[in-house]
Amino acid sequence: MSDLPRHVAIIMDGNGRWAQARKLERIEGHRAGAEAVRRITTRARERGIESLTLFAFSTENWQRPKDEVRGLWGLLVDFLKSELPTLIKNQIGLKLIGDPGPIPTLAQKQLNKVIKRTAGSTHMTLNLALNYGAKAELIHAFEQLKKYDQPIDETSVEEHLYTADQPPVDLLIRTGGEHRLSNFLLWQAAYAELYFVDTLWPDYSDDDFDRALSDFSQRERRFGRTSAQLIDEVAP
Ligand code: FPP
Repeated sequence: MSDLPRHVAIIMDGNGRWAQARKLERIEGHRAGAEAVRRITTRARERGIESLTLFAFSTENWQRPKDEVRGLWGLLVDFLKSELPTLIKNQIGLKLIGDPGPIPTLAQKQLNKVIKRTAGSTHMTLNLALNYGAKAELIHAFEQLKKYDQPIDETSVEEHLYTADQPPVDLLIRTGGEHRLSNFLLWQAAYAELYFVDTLWPDYSDDDFDRALSDFSQRERRFGRTSAQLIDEVAP
């Protein structure tokens, strides 16, 4: 049986449907989603998770209506401004996972400020996946290795991922009822336990998060070996 996951990643899905069900604009779903981000970040930190990675904006999300895209970046800026003191107090270091190039200037500035001010935090890393796509991340890593004529092996590839120096993803949660990975952390989640729930992200509670951790603790992670081999390994 497994203990606590060191690295939890979440595909936060269902904001739009949450708003639609209440006859609200989609952005109101994202606003409620930002509250869930606060809630789950706090709970993850309380539970002793080392790295929490949240998929907040994919490389494909630019195709959404302009107002929604603008609203999402606005929410991110508000979130970063209001959360900075809490992140510092709770020793949570912010990191960006994704290509910062196309991110709006104001959001970039705010991100850089929070990343700098929370660098060296000791309790948890909060990775925000923004303008992120796993295939692009891998291509970038391979290009870097080729450019500097480095060997291609697991260690060298991992050194060039956005998550370098962080543990691999142990538990990957997706809310909102869909059962797919959507180009998220394809390398880092190679051996992740997958956990899908129908709950829409704005409704996702800290109890729901605890349930996912508890489910994870019941999983037998064999990494390609047999159950008998695992028992032999822990036997005195
Ligand atoms: C997916 O729901 C969610 C997103 C594309 C954005 C996630 C953003 C937030 C949780 C809020 C802002 C983030 C931070 C970090 C403050 P969807 O819109 O695809 O939902 P649907 O499938 O019901 O349409």
